[in-house]
Formats: sequence, C-alpha cells, structure tokens
Amino acid sequence: MRLKDKVAIITGAANGLGLAAAETFAREGAKVALADYDANLGRERAAELKAKGYEVSFFQVDVSDRSSVDEMVRRVAAEFSGIDILVNNAGITRDAMLKKLSVEDFQKVISVNLTGVFHCTQAVLPFLLERGSGKIISTSSVSGVYGNVGQTNYAAAKAGVIGMTKSWAKELGRKGINVNAVAPGFIMTGMTAKVPEKILEQMKSMVPLGRLGDPRDIANAYLFLASEEANYVNGTVLHVDGGIMM
Ligand code: CAA
Ligand code: NAI
Repeated sequence: MRLKDKVAIITGAANGLGLAAAETFAREGAKVALADYDANLGRERAAELKAKGYEVSFFQVDVSDRSSVDEMVRRVAAEFSGIDILVNNAGITRDAMLKKLSVEDFQKVISVNLTGVFHCTQAVLPFLLERGSGKIISTSSVSGVYGNVGQTNYAAAKAGVIGMTKSWAKELGRKGINVNAVAPGFIMTGMTAKVPEKILEQMKSMVPLGRLGDPRDIANAYLFLASEEANYVNGTVLHVDGGIMM
C-alpha cells in the first residue's frame, strides 16, 4: 500500500476527479477526508466508499470561504489525528467569451479555483509543519498553461495555481513538504459534459492518444505525487493530457 495510514484531504471529492482520487487513495491505505460543497452527494459517495471497507469521512466545505475551510481542516485533523496530504482539486467553470464575461463570473471562478487553493493550503500548513513532512497537490489545467477560448476566468485561476505551487515549493521544501501541480487535459466528468459536443470533438482531435481522459488517469497522477515515490519531485507541473502539451 502506497499511502498506508496517511491522512489525505481531497477537495471536490463528491464528483469526477476528486471522487476517483478518494477511492484510489483509500485503496492504497489512506484515511481520506472527502471535502466538498455538495453535502448530499458527498455523504452518499462517502457511504459507498465506507461500504467497500475504506476509511473515509465526508466534510462539507466551501473552499472560497475561509471560515468554512478552517472549520473543515480543524475537524479533519481532530477525527484522523493530523493531516499528511492535501489535494486542492475543487473547481468550477463559468465559461463565456471575453466580451460577454460578467465581473461576477470572473470573480466567482477566481474565488473558488484560485483563492480556494490558497485558503486550503494555508489552513492545512500548520498540521504539515507539525509532522515535518507533507504533500500538497493542486489541480491546474491545460487551459492554465496555454489558454482556452471562453475561459478568461478559469485560465487565469489555473495559471495562478501554477504560480502559487512554484512559490510554495521554494518556500516549504526545506520543511519536508513537497508541493506540485497536475495539469489535466480534457477528462470525462460533469465539467466537460457541459462543453458543446462540437468543441469537445475538436479537443479530442488535438490529443495524440486520440481519446479524452478518464478520471482514474488523473487520480493515478495525484497518487504518485502523494506517495513516497515522489519524495524528490517538487515544484513540478505534471501534464496528464494524452500529449496535448509537449
Ligand atoms: N476555438 C476557436 N473558436 C471558437 C472556439 C474555439 N475553441 N469556441 C468558440 N469559438 C468561436 C465560435 O466558432 C464562434 O465564432 P463565430 O462568432 O465566428 O461564429 C465564436 O467563437 C462564439 O462562440 P459561441 O457561438 O459558442 O459563443 P457563445 O457565447 O454562445 O458561447 C462559450 C461561448 C460559452 C465559451 C462556448 O463556446 C463554450 O462553452 N465553449 C467551450 C469552452 C471550453 O472549452 N471549456 C472547457 C470546459 S472543461 C474544462 O474547463 C476542464 C479543463 O480544465 C480543460
Ligand atoms: P466536477 O464538476 O466533476 O467536480 C468538482 C467538484 O468540486 C464537485 O463535487 C463540486 O461540488 C466541488 N466544488 C465546487 N465548488 C466548490 C467549493 N466552493 N467548495 C468545495 N467544493 C466545491 O469537476 P472535475 O472535472 O472533477 O474537476 C476537478 C478539478 O479538475 C477542478 O479543479 C477542475 O478545474 C480540474 N480540471 C478538470 C478537467 C476536466 O477535463 N474535467 C481538466 C483540467 C482540470
């Protein structure tokens, strides 16, 4: 087991990539806190994983709200006796062309996808420092690396995640904490299901592997970065996109 007895918080774990990661981490022996805004779905998913024999719990959180994040982190640390791993995976889209993008939709995406990553990381940090070790993994995107039509807000936030990751990798490396990002390509989840079929086909045609990704493709990347196998990997952006970025 690659994460035996490690305590992992995964945000956005009620769906998609976060849910796949929760199951992957639990299967590898981790105690997993599924942290999500959607309490009904989150509780349901946690119950399903518990029924498979995994050690998981659901914690309601809005990553864009600092007091909600502080409370979630405090409860996780109390229930599982500390924290070893944080996966900053929660994210949203509010796609629109620049000329139509509202200030509200710009701010909303920044507050969840960028400020949310800052909130969770800062709140978890004292627990990692206490352990003298830890792994922080944040989810960027191919859109944050090379931009995307209709994603001003999202690309800005995901590029910002890369900037924070590299700063934290420099700041926290000597404290025994590895900080990395994963930049997924187009992966089949509820998020991509909203993209018009024609555009999705266009995205697929750009992938050398000739297919969209599966959530488990990303869960496996999170797992690698969370495991001891990645102890000398720090400040990297791992592209898991079938070869779109090269
Ligand atoms: N490349 C080039 N041109 C594009 C384009 C693209 N990817 N997408 C749209 N356009 C063009 C259209 O062809 C259209 O051109 P004309 O005016 O000449 O006809 C123009 O831009 C306007 O497009 P729409 O008619 O679609 O405009 P709209 O206002 O109705 O919708 C939109 C705009 C909401 C951005 C819609 O196009 C859309 O949903 N696009 C998909 C955006 C996208 O890729 N999102 C990724 C979501 S998944 C994700 O975010 C995960 C991740 O990290 C990768
Ligand atoms: P999803 O929409 O399937 O799941 C996102 C989860 O985040 C949901 O359960 C939702 O309730 C939760 N969430 C939303 N706002 C929240 C908040 N304020 N606080 C706490 N939880 C919140 O999305 P998906 O596809 O699983 O995406 C996961 C991450 O991967 C996101 O950061 C996304 O931007 C990123 N990503 C996804 C790609 C894809 O193609 N699906 C590609 C690149 C990046």
